[in-house]
Amino acid sequence: MASKRAKISIIGAGNVGATCAHWAAQKELGDIVLLDIPRADAPDQHMPKGKMIDLGCCAPIEGFDSNLTGTFDYEDIAGSDVVIVTAGLPRKPGMSRDDLIETNVKIVKSVSENIKEHAPDSIVILVSNPLDAMVYTAWKATGFPTNRIVGQAGALDCARYRAFIAWELGVSVEDVQAMLLGGHGDDMVPFPRLTSVHGIPVTDMLSQDKIDACVQRAKVGGGEIVKLMGTSAYYAPALGTIQMAEAIIKDKKRIIPSAAFLDGQFGQKGLFVGVPALLGKDGVEKIVEFKLTDEEQKLFDESASHVADLVKVVTDRFPELA
Ligand code: NAI
Ligand code: 2OP
Repeated sequence: MASKRAKISIIGAGNVGATCAHWAAQKELGDIVLLDIPRADAPDQHMPKGKMIDLGCCAPIEGFDSNLTGTFDYEDIAGSDVVIVTAGLPRKPGMSRDDLIETNVKIVKSVSENIKEHAPDSIVILVSNPLDAMVYTAWKATGFPTNRIVGQAGALDCARYRAFIAWELGVSVEDVQAMLLGGHGDDMVPFPRLTSVHGIPVTDMLSQDKIDACVQRAKVGGGEIVKLMGTSAYYAPALGTIQMAEAIIKDKKRIIPSAAFLDGQFGQKGLFVGVPALLGKDGVEKIVEFKLTDEEQKLFDESASHVADLVKVVTDRFPELA
């Protein structure tokens, strides 16, 4: 008998959510549900349903057989293996991710309560910003064990860093490997000493100035795109998220930088911060630790302390999430 198809639900059918559905369908990861809320100013419209009919009409061309559902109803997410949360405001030019906190905590809290009720066994991947604080919010609001709550940031930030290095060198992006830790903010910590081009240290191939420029561009890469487009990026954020979902659904045991719960690893306790996470059928199955230099530890601690400040804003404003 054929094994059951995986089920992926995506909450928030905007730019990132709809693009997640697109990548997941193209990879034929399983059946997909795309959920949003009705628009008060357009009561006759049903945007998630419309997007899923449109995506479904790609199926004969691309050749995928996933069932696609667009919905306003949380009952449709029942039985999900993975739930991706992209609901919330994106930033506009001049805004930092942190400026979104007040509005997005309320949204992510209510979305998480619905996930807890309707998909209690799912693994939840957060995408909404400010990312690290939203992962914390979803953890508290669902009460799920920490291995079943994880945030997407490192997959994107690392991909950006790899792309900028490859473009600078004029080599294939496939040959650039890299590591990056920390929160999803401008103080994220890319690791030039762990960046290689098919095993060759990037420090042997690029000058320090050029490496520093790529690191800096990765740190502010989200802002660069917001300034150009007037809203947040979505192609790479969505594909980074689907890379994580795929690792979980296919039990691939991939090591992907992800916002995962730290219980002493890398010297931090009680926070979700970006670290190399082994992703498989149980979600975050392990944090892969490695030794940091004193300077790297200092940068990581600074980034983690920014995450702790954001969590404090959440718990001060919403004591029920403390
Ligand atoms: P968008 O505005 O295109 O879509 C957001 C969607 O969420 C809208 O369709 C809206 O109706 C929906 N929504 C709002 N409240 C909801 C609720 N209570 N339940 C269900 N749906 C609800 O925004 P976009 O560009 O898709 O970004 C979504 C979030 O992802 C933002 O917070 C953005 O900052 C974040 N983001 C995070 C990235 C990361 O790497 N972690 C990268 C890019 C964006
Ligand atoms: C990004 O890095 C805004 O978090 C979003 O593109």
